[in-house]
Amino acid sequence: MTRFAGESPGATDPLVGRHLLVTGGAGFIGSAYVRNVLARHDGTRITVLDKLTYAGNRANLAPIGANVDEAARFRFVEGDIAEPGDVEPLVAEADAVINFAAESHVDRSILDPEAFLRTGVIGVHVLLEAVRREASRAEAGDRERAPRLLQVSTDEVYGSVAEGYSKEADALAPRSPYAAAKAAGELLARSYAVTHGTDVVITRGSNTYGPYQHPEKLIPLFVTNAIDGQPLPLYGDGLQERDWLHVDDHAGAIDFVLRHGAAGEVYNVPGDAQLPNREVVRRLLDRLGKPWSLVRTVADRPGHDRRYALDGSRLAGLGWRRGVAFDSGLDATVDWYRDNESWWRAVRSGDWHAWYERQYAERLAGSVEG
Ligand code: NAD
Ligand code: TYD
Repeated sequence: MTRFAGESPGATDPLVGRHLLVTGGAGFIGSAYVRNVLARHDGTRITVLDKLTYAGNRANLAPIGANVDEAARFRFVEGDIAEPGDVEPLVAEADAVINFAAESHVDRSILDPEAFLRTGVIGVHVLLEAVRREASRAEAGDRERAPRLLQVSTDEVYGSVAEGYSKEADALAPRSPYAAAKAAGELLARSYAVTHGTDVVITRGSNTYGPYQHPEKLIPLFVTNAIDGQPLPLYGDGLQERDWLHVDDHAGAIDFVLRHGAAGEVYNVPGDAQLPNREVVRRLLDRLGKPWSLVRTVADRPGHDRRYALDGSRLAGLGWRRGVAFDSGLDATVDWYRDNESWWRAVRSGDWHAWYERQYAERLAGSVEG
């Protein structure tokens, strides 16, 4: 599988061989970013700052330890982006900050929104203040240059899109507490770009899939349930559409925007597969050789967004190209979960059972055949 399609950092790239602070780097997309950047062996050093919430997992970064050169350029710090004391000293050492840290699951944001606001709004504010302070130091000649902040946002800030494709200048209309917190975070980031001239770039990625994704999300939940012969809880009519983006492509696009994006600008990152959930489920069951009879229709998610769809022309115009086609990417992802049971069984333990019970017990009790 190609790493960072479309990207070949040149000798003049100001971030090659530099020190990146990756917040939320023990999660799904952040850890892919860290693994892939270190695997480039171009001298880049990475510090991960991660709170290790239920979604943060040191095992996602374990492959780094297996390579002496990568391990030498990597450091892990446990901490909270909403705590200035955790953030400031690390931003002071960094050439760029890439913020993946967030509470990322819509269903959890419906049940318990507070942590979404703390990390998604206060946390982003703390990062922005730290970056602004470093920019002042650069201006005073106390450091070489101001750090750039890349805020990882989502297509969900546009809300449900009945037809057409969202462009970066479209109005934001988030409809879940998760999406509202993400919109708030990126608007705050843009306000710093305008008001203080802070060097901020923003990406809005679409639904991401691949190895190491927490099994609370659709694809890994259904794959791991199906492996165990457990019911697959499909919300509502299952005809909601998502546009699927492979995690290596999402991570690659983020790196590309970090290097080539214009300050203060927003970039959509679309996938290549706009599909109704039913179709995604059919394909993953086919790959596993499991029957459709596992699928149960359950009560819908409140406020369920019907469709997301991104216009990717701005990022394409900058020169970025996707590298992983959905069909092969999904097959490889299904195979990864089949081959890495110890990873997901460890995640589906402890608190997982209380979450599963709370989210699905009643739904499954009232379910009908898919
Ligand atoms: P994830 O839930 O797998 O990982 C989030 C990581 O952030 C975890 O390691 C967690 O421990 C850490 N974290 C949470 N709160 C923190 C805090 N206060 N301080 C430090 N670390 C904290 O999420 P993901 O799917 O990898 O998503 C990463 C980013 O990409 C998020 O900002 C998300 O909104 C965005 N995004 C995700 C998708 C998707 O489909 N997964 C799509 C578009 C955008
Ligand atoms: P999810 O992976 O939670 O991502 P998002 O809500 O950010 O798009 O869900 C993807 C789609 O799958 C979404 O339409 C909701 C649906 N879904 C189910 O039908 N059942 C489930 O158990 C889950 C987790 C999701």
